Amino acid sequence: MDRVSNFTEKIKASYSTTGEHIYLGAALLDGEIISEAEVNLSLRMMNRHGLIAGATGTGKTRTLQLLAEQLSASGVTVFMLDVKGDLSGLNQAGFINPRIEERAAALNKSYTPSGFPVELYSLSGKKGAQMRASVLEFGPVLLSKILDLNQIQSGVMSVIFKYADDHQLQLVDLNDLKKVISYLSGGPGAAEIKESYGSISGSTSGTILRKIVSIEQQGLSQIFGEKSFDIQDMFNRVDGQGVISLLNISDVQNQPVLFSTFLLSLLAEIFYTLPEAGDIEKPKLVFFFDEAHLLFKDSQKAFLEQIETIIRLIRSKGIGVFFCTQSPMDIPDSVLGQLGNRIQHALRAFTPNDVEALKKTVNTYPRSEFYEIDRVLTSLGTGQALITVLNEKGIPTEVAATHLFPPRAVMGPMSEADCDTLMQSSPIYQKYQEVIDPISAYDILTRRIQEKMKEESTDKEREIENKPSSKEEKSTFEEIINAPITRQIGTAIVRGLFGMLSGKKPRGRY
Ligand SMILES: Nc1ncnc2c1ncn2[C@@H]1O[C@H](COP(=O)(O)OP(=O)(O)OP(=O)(O)O)[C@@H](O)[C@H]1O
Ligand SMILES: [Mg+2]
Repeated sequence: MDRVSNFTEKIKASYSTTGEHIYLGAALLDGEIISEAEVNLSLRMMNRHGLIAGATGTGKTRTLQLLAEQLSASGVTVFMLDVKGDLSGLNQAGFINPRIEERAAALNKSYTPSGFPVELYSLSGKKGAQMRASVLEFGPVLLSKILDLNQIQSGVMSVIFKYADDHQLQLVDLNDLKKVISYLSGGPGAAEIKESYGSISGSTSGTILRKIVSIEQQGLSQIFGEKSFDIQDMFNRVDGQGVISLLNISDVQNQPVLFSTFLLSLLAEIFYTLPEAGDIEKPKLVFFFDEAHLLFKDSQKAFLEQIETIIRLIRSKGIGVFFCTQSPMDIPDSVLGQLGNRIQHALRAFTPNDVEALKKTVNTYPRSEFYEIDRVLTSLGTGQALITVLNEKGIPTEVAATHLFPPRAVMGPMSEADCDTLMQSSPIYQKYQEVIDPISAYDILTRRIQEKMKEESTDKEREIENKPSSKEEKSTFEEIINAPITRQIGTAIVRGLFGMLSGKKPRGRY
C-alpha cells in the first residue's frame, strides 16, 4: 500500500463514526488535502471536554463557531462566551464567496449557508438579556475571587455566608452582603459572631466593604440580584435546533475575573441541578470558553482545585466544556489532562517562551508516523489545525493535520440594529428586564437594628417614642417566614463546590 492510501485508511479507521458527529474537515498529508480522510468529532464524546488552541488569528474562534453550528443542527444546546462580540452572526446565513467555495471544494463537500437560533445575553444588560446571579448563588469562594480577597478575607467571607445561612438571611444583592458584614463586624451582631465563629476584625471587614463599593462604582452591581438567571433557559430548542446562547462580554472585557467567575457559578449550578446522564448519544449542552486564559489567570490554588473538580464531575451530567486559548500552557495541567478532544491551530516560535510552549505542546501529542509534530504545528495555515480526539469508542484518534470546513453562518457580528431586533423580540430578554427586590438580609437586619434601638429607647425615653405602624410591628421572624423565597434551589444547592459551607468552624480571629 502506498503512503497516501495507508494514511487515508488509518484516518478513516480512526475517525469513522456510526453515531452523530461533527464534520471538522479532511486530513492533510505533505500539504495535500486528502478529502476522503474525513476528520470527525463524535457527539458521544463531547462530554469528554476539549481544547481549541493556537496563535492569534489562526482560526480558533471560527472553529468554535463550526462546532457550535453543528451541535445546534443536531439539537444540542450551546453556551458560548462571546469575548469580542463577534459571534452574533451565527444567527444569520453566511455568504458564499470565492474563498469559502474554494475551501468547500477542496474538501469535496457542498456548502449551504445557514443561520442558527441565537439568544443574546450580557452582564451589562445592554448587549443582550441581563444575566444576574444572587450573591448567595455566587457563594463565598467565587465572590472572594471577584473581590480579589486574600486568604484571611476569604475565610471571613465564608463565615459571613455561614452566618447568613444559619440565620436564614437571604443574600440577594450587594446591599445584603454589605449589611451583614457591617452587622457582624461593628454592629449588634459582633458579639454573637464572636461567640460562634470568632470575631471579625474591623480592618478585614473594612477592606471587604471597600472592595464591594469599588465593584459598585464600576457599575457592576446589576449583576448581583434577582431575577437571577435560570439555567433551564440554556436548554431551549427552536424547530429541533439547539439554541446557541451567547454571553457577550465585549463591554466588560476588562473584568475577566467577573465574567469567568460568573460562568463558573453557572457550571456549579448546572452540576447541582441536572440529574446524572449516564452514557448518552450526545451531550445535553456544550459550554465554550473563548479566551480561557482569562479564567485561570492569577488564580489561587483553592479556586483552581474547584474548577478542576467541576470539570471532572460535570461530564457525568452530559455537559461538555471546551476551552479556547492561545497556548495549552494557559490551562493548568490538572484541567488539561481532562480534555480528551484537542484541536490545535498553528503555534508561533518567535520568542524563547514560544519555543518552550511549542516543545511542551508537542509532548502532549501522541506519536505519529506521518507527521513531525513540531514542524506541522508551526506551518499550519489559517483554518487548519492539528487534531486528536476521542473516537466514539473513547479511543484517542490518529493525529490529523486538518483542513477545516468553513462555518455556515456569518463569520462576524450582526449589525447593531439586527442585534437589537433579535433582543427586543426575545421573551427571555423581556423576562430578565424585570428586577425583583425580595425581602432579604438587608431588610431583615435593618429591621433588627431598628428594633434593638427601639428597645433601648423604650427603656429610657418611652415618652418620645414615635407611633409605630402595624407594619413596623411585624416581627423579624414573621418577615422571614413571609419573604418570597426566590430560587429555593439556589439556597439549598450551591454550597459544597464554591460554596464551602462544610460546617467547619473557622478558628481564631479573622
Ligand atoms: N474554518 C474556516 N473557514 C474559513 N475561514 C476561516 C476559518 N477559520 C478561520 N478563518 C478565517 O480566519 C480569520 C481569523 O480567524 P479567527 O478570528 O477564528 O482567529 P482566532 O484564532 O480566534 O484569533 P484571535 O486569537 O485574534 O481571537 C477569520 O476571520 C476567517 O476569515
Ligand atoms: Mg478568537
